Amino acid sequence: MATAYFGRRYMMSASHRLHAESLSEEENRTSYGKCNNPHGHGHNYVVEVLVSGEVNRDTGMVVNMAALDEAVQTAVLERFDHTNLNFDPLFVNQVPTTENLTKAVFDVLKHALPAGKLECVRVEETENNFFQYQG
Ligand code: NI
Repeated sequence: MATAYFGRRYMMSASHRLHAESLSEEENRTSYGKCNNPHGHGHNYVVEVLVSGEVNRDTGMVVNMAALDEAVQTAVLERFDHTNLNFDPLFVNQVPTTENLTKAVFDVLKHALPAGKLECVRVEETENNFFQYQG
Protein backbone atom coordinates (compact mmCIF):
# COMPACT_ATOMS: atom_id res chain seq x y z
CA MET A 1 0.00 0.00 0.00
CA ALA A 2 1.58 3.24 -1.10
CA THR A 3 -0.39 6.46 -0.99
CA ALA A 4 0.91 9.31 -3.07
CA TYR A 5 -0.29 12.78 -3.93
CA PHE A 6 -0.67 14.25 -7.38
CA GLY A 7 -1.17 17.96 -7.88
CA ARG A 8 -2.04 19.87 -10.98
CA ARG A 9 -2.77 23.50 -11.71
CA TYR A 10 -5.26 25.06 -14.08
CA MET A 11 -6.04 28.63 -15.10
CA MET A 12 -9.42 30.24 -15.41
CA SER A 13 -10.67 33.79 -15.75
CA ALA A 14 -13.91 35.00 -14.27
CA SER A 15 -15.56 38.14 -13.01
CA HIS A 16 -17.48 38.79 -9.85
CA ARG A 17 -18.95 41.46 -7.66
CA LEU A 18 -18.75 41.05 -3.91
CA HIS A 19 -22.07 42.14 -2.50
CA ALA A 20 -24.12 40.55 0.27
CA GLU A 21 -27.86 41.09 0.20
CA SER A 22 -27.93 40.61 3.97
CA LEU A 23 -25.67 43.63 4.52
CA SER A 24 -26.49 47.34 4.13
CA GLU A 25 -24.88 49.40 1.35
CA GLU A 26 -22.56 50.87 3.96
CA GLU A 27 -21.62 47.46 5.37
CA ASN A 28 -21.01 46.14 1.86
CA ARG A 29 -18.65 49.02 1.09
CA THR A 30 -16.86 48.51 4.40
CA SER A 31 -16.56 44.76 3.93
CA TYR A 32 -15.59 44.61 0.28
CA GLY A 33 -14.22 48.05 -0.65
CA LYS A 34 -13.55 48.31 -4.40
CA CYS A 35 -14.74 44.73 -4.86
CA ASN A 36 -18.27 46.03 -4.15
CA ASN A 37 -18.14 48.26 -7.25
CA PRO A 38 -21.47 47.68 -9.05
CA HIS A 39 -19.82 46.78 -12.36
CA GLY A 40 -17.67 44.01 -10.90
CA HIS A 41 -14.10 43.09 -11.86
CA GLY A 42 -12.18 40.08 -13.07
CA HIS A 43 -9.46 37.73 -11.92
CA ASN A 44 -7.14 35.27 -13.58
CA TYR A 45 -7.47 32.46 -11.08
CA VAL A 46 -4.96 29.68 -10.65
CA VAL A 47 -6.79 26.58 -9.48
CA GLU A 48 -4.67 23.86 -7.88
CA VAL A 49 -6.06 20.41 -7.34
CA LEU A 50 -4.46 17.81 -5.08
CA VAL A 51 -5.49 14.17 -5.45
CA SER A 52 -4.33 11.28 -3.25
CA GLY A 53 -4.54 7.59 -3.87
CA GLU A 54 -2.82 4.27 -4.06
CA VAL A 55 -0.11 4.11 -6.67
CA ASN A 56 -1.51 1.75 -9.28
CA ARG A 57 0.66 -1.33 -9.49
CA ASP A 58 0.47 -1.48 -13.27
CA THR A 59 0.55 2.17 -14.30
CA GLY A 60 2.61 3.50 -11.40
CA MET A 61 0.21 6.43 -11.17
CA VAL A 62 -2.28 7.81 -8.63
CA VAL A 63 -4.60 9.13 -11.31
CA ASN A 64 -4.39 9.35 -15.07
CA MET A 65 -3.50 12.95 -15.83
CA ALA A 66 -5.53 13.14 -19.03
CA ALA A 67 -8.58 11.75 -17.23
CA LEU A 68 -8.13 14.29 -14.42
CA ASP A 69 -7.79 17.10 -16.97
CA GLU A 70 -10.99 15.95 -18.63
CA ALA A 71 -12.84 15.92 -15.30
CA VAL A 72 -11.59 19.39 -14.36
CA GLN A 73 -12.42 20.68 -17.82
CA THR A 74 -15.97 19.35 -17.69
CA ALA A 75 -16.86 19.98 -14.06
CA VAL A 76 -14.95 23.16 -13.33
CA LEU A 77 -13.58 25.06 -16.33
CA GLU A 78 -16.60 24.73 -18.59
CA ARG A 79 -18.71 25.92 -15.70
CA PHE A 80 -16.69 28.85 -14.38
CA ASP A 81 -14.09 29.94 -16.96
CA HIS A 82 -14.96 33.23 -18.68
CA THR A 83 -18.18 33.62 -16.75
CA ASN A 84 -19.62 36.11 -14.31
CA LEU A 85 -19.61 34.05 -11.11
CA ASN A 86 -22.55 36.00 -9.69
CA PHE A 87 -24.79 34.32 -12.26
CA ASP A 88 -23.82 30.75 -11.37
CA PRO A 89 -26.62 28.97 -9.44
CA LEU A 90 -24.13 28.20 -6.66
CA PHE A 91 -23.73 31.91 -6.02
CA VAL A 92 -27.35 32.97 -6.09
CA ASN A 93 -27.50 32.73 -2.31
CA GLN A 94 -23.86 33.24 -1.41
CA VAL A 95 -21.31 35.89 -2.23
CA PRO A 96 -18.78 34.71 -4.86
CA THR A 97 -15.75 35.41 -2.73
CA THR A 98 -12.76 33.27 -3.54
CA GLU A 99 -13.34 31.42 -0.26
CA ASN A 100 -16.74 30.35 -1.58
CA LEU A 101 -15.36 29.70 -5.08
CA THR A 102 -12.68 27.40 -3.66
CA LYS A 103 -15.31 25.40 -1.79
CA ALA A 104 -17.54 25.32 -4.90
CA VAL A 105 -14.69 23.96 -7.03
CA PHE A 106 -13.99 21.30 -4.41
CA ASP A 107 -17.64 20.27 -4.20
CA VAL A 108 -18.25 19.97 -7.94
CA LEU A 109 -14.94 18.21 -8.61
CA LYS A 110 -15.17 15.75 -5.71
CA HIS A 111 -17.87 13.76 -7.46
CA ALA A 112 -16.25 14.01 -10.91
CA LEU A 113 -12.81 12.63 -10.10
CA PRO A 114 -11.79 9.66 -12.30
CA ALA A 115 -9.72 8.10 -9.49
CA GLY A 116 -8.27 8.84 -6.09
CA LYS A 117 -9.53 11.18 -3.41
CA LEU A 118 -9.73 14.93 -3.68
CA GLU A 119 -7.58 16.19 -0.82
CA CYS A 120 -7.41 19.88 -1.44
CA VAL A 121 -8.34 22.70 -3.78
CA ARG A 122 -6.26 25.85 -3.62
CA VAL A 123 -7.20 28.94 -5.61
CA GLU A 124 -4.86 31.85 -6.16
CA GLU A 125 -6.85 35.01 -6.76
CA THR A 126 -3.87 37.33 -7.18
CA GLU A 127 -0.17 36.78 -6.76
CA ASN A 128 -0.58 37.87 -3.13
CA ASN A 129 -3.51 35.83 -1.91
CA PHE A 130 -4.77 32.31 -2.08
CA PHE A 131 -7.54 30.25 -0.54
CA GLN A 132 -7.64 26.61 0.35
CA TYR A 133 -10.39 24.10 1.11
CA GLN A 134 -10.02 20.51 2.17
CA GLY A 135 -13.60 19.35 2.46
NI1 NI B 1 -12.28 40.08 -6.75
